[in-house]
Amino acid sequence: MKTAFILNGPNLNALGKREPGIYGGNTLAMIEADCAAAGAPLGLAIDFRQSNHEGDLVDWVHEAADKAVGIVLNAGAYTHTSIALHDAIRANAPLPVIEVHLSNIHAREAFRHKSMIAPVAVGMICGFGPLGYTLALQALAARL
Ligand code: DQA
Repeated sequence: MKTAFILNGPNLNALGKREPGIYGGNTLAMIEADCAAAGAPLGLAIDFRQSNHEGDLVDWVHEAADKAVGIVLNAGAYTHTSIALHDAIRANAPLPVIEVHLSNIHAREAFRHKSMIAPVAVGMICGFGPLGYTLALQALAARL
């Protein structure tokens, strides 16, 4: 089995109780279980993590270069602000990064329309809720 890192940014630890009208009722633990189940037939073991701290996410992108074949990344609000994450992904090219968002960021506030991740990602999946994570794993497996 190859390993895929699935990295989750700030406030995603609160999924299930955080704005369920936008993010749905599934917890992050439920999404992790979905990812493990979806990864197995694709030959991908899942290393699933969440942090509210930008530096942790930067460290994990670098760690993935040694330990993983690719990353599924929901950077939460750091999506819209983090040059550091953008640079970390660039620094580890061509390690593939698939960007995921539960909500359709383009249908929301203008400040969510810009992604610092998108220019350095293979592609973005947004607006499909937790299904986006398993779609991203399929996209990663196809890319490999
Ligand atoms: C999010 C969208 C971001 O704009 C927001 O800051 C999040 C979650 C999503 O999954 O829809 O925290 O990444």
